[in-house]
This record gives sequence, C-alpha cells and structure tokens, in this order.
Amino acid sequence: MHSVRHIISALLFAVISAVNSCPPSDRAALLAFKAALHEPHLRIFDSWTGTDCCHKWYGVSCDAESHRVADINLRGESQDRSGFMTGFISPKICNLARLSSVTIADWKGIAGEIPKCITTLSFLRIIDLVGNKISGEIPADIGKLQSLTVLNIADNQISGRIPASLTSLSSLMHLDLRNNKISGSLPNKFGRLRMLSRALLSGNQISGPIPASISQIYRLADLDLSMNKLSGAIPYSLGKMAVLTTLNLDCNKISGTIPTTILTSSIENLNLSRNALEGKIPDVFGSKSYFTVIDLAYNKFSGPIPRTLAAADYIGHLDLSYNHLCGRIPAGEPFDHLDESSFTHNDCLCGKPLKAC
Ligand SMILES: *[C@@H]1O[C@H](CO)[C@@H](O)[C@H](O)[C@H]1NC(C)=O
Repeated sequence: MHSVRHIISALLFAVISAVNSCPPSDRAALLAFKAALHEPHLRIFDSWTGTDCCHKWYGVSCDAESHRVADINLRGESQDRSGFMTGFISPKICNLARLSSVTIADWKGIAGEIPKCITTLSFLRIIDLVGNKISGEIPADIGKLQSLTVLNIADNQISGRIPASLTSLSSLMHLDLRNNKISGSLPNKFGRLRMLSRALLSGNQISGPIPASISQIYRLADLDLSMNKLSGAIPYSLGKMAVLTTLNLDCNKISGTIPTTILTSSIENLNLSRNALEGKIPDVFGSKSYFTVIDLAYNKFSGPIPRTLAAADYIGHLDLSYNHLCGRIPAGEPFDHLDESSFTHNDCLCGKPLKAC
C-alpha cells in the first residue's frame, strides 16, 4: 500500500514537472542556438544545462501557460560589465515557435545574418539586435510579423534596401536602423506604419526623396534621417504633424526652401545642417515658437536673419553659420546668449556678437 502510494506520487511529480518544464524541442533549439555562439568571458551559457530550460537558464523565460520559450534576453552591456560574443544567430532559433521577444544586444562581435526564417515567428513583438556585427539584408518578408512593435538592428552592418513589406508592420512603434549600410530609397508607402512613434534611420546610405506619406504617421514624435544621401525637397506636410518633436535631416543632399510649416509646427529639435537648402529663412516665428535646437548651418540660405526670432518663447541653440546671410543681427533674446560661432562664415552679417555694422 505504502509503496503504491509512493509510486503514484512519484509518477504525479514526474508528470507535473514535465508539464512545467520546457518541451524537449525548445530545449534542443536553445542548445543549437548556444552552439553557434562563443562567449568566453562572462560565461552566461554555463547556466544552460539540465532539462528544464524554463528555470535558471540565463536570459531565457517561458510563457506561464504554454510553457514554451517566450523570451531570449541577452544583453552584453550593463553598468558593471561589458561582454563580448562571437558567432552567429542560428536559424534553429526559428523552432521556438512561441518566441515573443529576442534581445541579443551589444555583444559587439556577433556576425552572420538575421535568419530569414525569423519571419515565421508570428508571436514576435520585439527584435533587438543592436550593437553587433550582423550583416546581410533585412528579411524581405519582415512584414509578416504583424505583432512586431520594436525592430532595433542599429549599429550593425546590415546592407541592401528597406524591403517594401516593412511598411505593413502595422503594430510597429519603434524602428531603429541607425548606423548600418542600408541603401536604396525609403519605401513610398512608409506612411502605412501608423503606430510608429520613433523612426531612426541615420547613418546609412539611403537616397532618393523623403516620402510625403511619412506625415500620415499621426504618432510620430522622432524622425531621424540624418547622415544619408537623401535629396529633393522637405515635404511641406512634415510641418503639419501633430506630435513631431524632433526632425533631424542633417548631412544629406536636401534642396529647395524651408517650408514655413516646419518652423510653426510642434517641432522643438530641428537639425537641417549640411544640406543644400536655399532661399530666405521664413520670418514666421512668434510667441509660440519653442526650440531647443535650430541648426541650419552649412546650407545656402540667403537674405536677412528673421526679425521674429526675437519674439520666440525660447530658442536654446541656434546655428546659422556657413550660409549666405546678410544684414544686421537682431538684438535681444535669443541673440544675447549666442556667440560668434552661430553666425560666422556668412556673406555680410554684422552687429553683436560679430563686428559692428
Ligand atoms: C546637427 O547636425 C550636424 C551634422 O550632423 C552636427 O554636427 C551638429 O552637431 C548637429 N547640431 C546639433 C545642435 O546637435
């Protein structure tokens, strides 16, 4: 009797722990993922042993109901340590069918490509591979990831074009492609990314015009397209966006004049320096103008400094150097707190802080 009870409870225990621990197929996928990577310093993978990958495997967590692996969270940088990992991301990661977030960030040495099969992981909400040496292209059918809210592959060596399908990521809120080797033009239908609040694409080789459809992205607060090869004019409609606060278009080949809307909008950080913008700087500032930064340096602006700037509520940093401006620098704020470097290398500006007229 005693032994029967023992056997039953032992069996029950075995059944319960089997239910609570990760499926052998998920464990096998994780071990294949681990085998393609090499991290000899922190030795985080030393904890990836035993049958239950849902418990005490560093950076792995499982869904409470399905008991499938849901998150891989491996960060190489923190306040107290800095890691280094080489190898590549094994396509076996795609066997983790319930994966919801994959963060493999700041390991500096992870190379290879983003596995193409990652687009089959329909539960994915977060892809964060920032700060590695990943090359190859963004998977062409990335748009299949309809739950994706964060795509951060900044600071890698990604090349090729932005696939058109990316614009069908209808849940995407945060897109960070900075500092890669991405070329080609921005997809025309960029504006389909209706949930996007941050679009950071600086430091690539993106060419062609800025699609006007971007201004349909109602939630977009931060647009950084700096240090690319963009050309054409600044779409007038960018100045009509409800919550756009930061617009960085510096270091491109953008031409034409500044749409007045850009200077009367919700934008507070505006960097248009190092382009080929021309014409007069619109004289449209007023008591509602609030700018932490207006950097218009290294363009071809001509005419006078707008008088109404002196009526602005706040102008933190203003740089008008290296243009073709002419005439007297207005007096009062913000001009009182700016130094020479904001005005040098123009055609004929004069007055404080430059030489008297
Ligand atoms: C604006 O962009 C230029 C060129 O990328 C950069 O050098 C400058 O520091 C930026 N201005 C401000 C105020 O951040």
